[in-house]
Amino acid sequence: MTKPKVFLTRRWPLACEKRLLDHFDVTLNEDNHPLTPAELKAALRDYDAVLPTVSDALPQEVLSVEPLRCRMLGNFGVGFNHIDIETAKARAITVTNTPDVLTECTADIAMLLLLMAARRASEGERLVRSGQWAGWHPNHLLGTQVTGKTLGLVGFGRIAKAMATKAHFGFGMPILVYAPRPVPIADLERFGARQMESLEALLESSDIVSLHCPGSAANRHLINAERLAMMKPEAILINTARGDLIDSQALIEALRHRHLAAAGLDVYEGEPRLDPDFLTLDNVALLPHLGSATLETRTAMGMKVIDNLEAFFKGAIPTNRVA
Ligand code: DGY
Repeated sequence: MTKPKVFLTRRWPLACEKRLLDHFDVTLNEDNHPLTPAELKAALRDYDAVLPTVSDALPQEVLSVEPLRCRMLGNFGVGFNHIDIETAKARAITVTNTPDVLTECTADIAMLLLLMAARRASEGERLVRSGQWAGWHPNHLLGTQVTGKTLGLVGFGRIAKAMATKAHFGFGMPILVYAPRPVPIADLERFGARQMESLEALLESSDIVSLHCPGSAANRHLINAERLAMMKPEAILINTARGDLIDSQALIEALRHRHLAAAGLDVYEGEPRLDPDFLTLDNVALLPHLGSATLETRTAMGMKVIDNLEAFFKGAIPTNRVA
């Protein structure tokens, strides 16, 4: 029997590539360059399955390619807002993602950014590296204590709950939650958490706010100038979810004028480009979308894509089907 033809848009951890090569007729993007829309269209035309990542935009225009051979998109990642799901459904393309395996890893990065932003770690490192550190003194680089501060979580899915565990049990932080639907009492009681009646109430009451909601048209600029103004001036904002949840210009203004003490960002509107004004600000910690970036997690993500792919080509419904 001929093996399904599978195209990987980016290089994966070796163990995953090996497993794929053993079972499918695989084409790798050998030099790992970011693909153009024309290259993505060619892949959709020529392969039975395409395995994209968050950096491959698959809007209606790309998914409407003719003729279409691709029957499955096995996304290497949990978020799939870069894929036009309605068009995928209309074209009978099955889409899968990789939940669960990156939960702890992403919550770790959210905690890292929280600590970096609160304790001015990026500023401190820049000072040491530049050779300009003139020594210890009582007022040097004073940050904000994290332990005991109130953490507001926007969204209460897997990653938010993992962050609540780390923050509450590791740092003694009271937890507030905003989620559009009622959260089961047992889920709140685990952390002694309180579900707030509105996002605004959460923003007003939290010392640190961390975003954990999906990127979607409805959530675009969820955190805008008006909502930033509701936060305490000494508050900190963390985003490890999707860049377009925040109006970047509004955040830059708030940070510049210290209407907000600091921010920690792993994701950006239009990444990998980011608004150059962020680079002029000392009170923002910036990471390059590292949420799931450990060998263990990226390997687990790849293996999950392959599990879904194998199920699909055996005629079963893949476990992580989203369309
Ligand atoms: C995801 O999985 O959606 C992340 O953003 C990339 O790991």
